[in-house]
Amino acid sequence: MKEEKKKKENKENNLKLIKIENKEKKRKSKITQNIGKEKIKEEKNSFKKKINSESNIEKKKKLKNEFKRKFKGIESNSKGNIVDIKGLNKYFCNGSNCEHILHNIDLKIPRGKVVVILGASGSGKSTLLNIISGLTPPSSGDVIVNNNNLFYMNDSSRTKFRKLNISFVFQSYNLIPSLTVIENIKVGENLRSKNVEEIKMVDILKTLDLTVQSKKYPFQLSGGQNQRVSIGRALAKNPNILFADEPTGALDEKKGKEALQMLLDINKKFNTTLIMVTHNPNFQKVSDIVLHIKDGTISNIINNKTKKTAKDIEWS
Ligand SMILES: Nc1ncnc2c1ncn2[C@@H]1O[C@H](COP(=O)(O)OP(=O)(O)OP(=O)(O)O)[C@@H](O)[C@H]1O
Ligand SMILES: [Mg+2]
Repeated sequence: MKEEKKKKENKENNLKLIKIENKEKKRKSKITQNIGKEKIKEEKNSFKKKINSESNIEKKKKLKNEFKRKFKGIESNSKGNIVDIKGLNKYFCNGSNCEHILHNIDLKIPRGKVVVILGASGSGKSTLLNIISGLTPPSSGDVIVNNNNLFYMNDSSRTKFRKLNISFVFQSYNLIPSLTVIENIKVGENLRSKNVEEIKMVDILKTLDLTVQSKKYPFQLSGGQNQRVSIGRALAKNPNILFADEPTGALDEKKGKEALQMLLDINKKFNTTLIMVTHNPNFQKVSDIVLHIKDGTISNIINNKTKKTAKDIEWS
């Protein structure tokens, strides 16, 4: 009888412990998921205190303006840079399980450069790209891109930021099958902001060597030509930064080199900063800056003094 009572008590105690553990896990997960929001809330509160305790009217006014700018994410890049990252961390959480994906990343990219990001599968390349391009919010750290601090911006202001500043080229071309080459490129033009300078359609078609194909539909084109249309669509927006995640992943050597050269030509002709993610180490030779990512950290940064053209590099 006594033993049975003891067993029951043990079971109840174990259940209690499991409940406490689960509660603690949930609490931790919530903290990690909201790490960015919580940090902003804290910063806002201490800034407000600073404003309230300021007695000088002029200084108070200045602080209030500073507050508005900071929490709208208005912050200047350092001179000549289009990207300034300091102390970037990224967590992904699934229920109570949080993974720390990017670890305390610092990075500076001058405007108009060609950057290539290399690293093993799962090392965090796309995550970094998605954060710089405003698709994914950082968990902590300053991520200043073209005078916007993405850490302080909410989803809708990051969407506006993308509209104004960013274009993407992906491995899959994502063209609209019922539209011709020129119409597909115009989709990008329609995404361009009013105050951004237009790049003429003839110029785009010429740069991408698509003038002859302009009235054709995607199914009538080769893989390389389709990728060039998707590059054209990205270019028509005239972005400050062009991001490419495995842009030649679906192409053979000849077509891959052609597409890569098109991206390099755009960089040269329009001074568009080009940031590419790839598994192909040969891309290092065409870039100004090479970033090696390992387990969510930048393990090496190389600044190239000389660059090759796409046709002069080895491919595999
Ligand atoms: N939305 C997400 N939710 C949860 N985990 C994610 C998410 N996106 C990425 N991860 C995880 O983050 C890690 C890095 O992924 P990421 O896509 O950045 O790798 P990658 O270097 O681009 O790899 P690949 O070369 O295979 O494309 C992986 O462990 C991945 O499972
Ligand atoms: Mg990836």
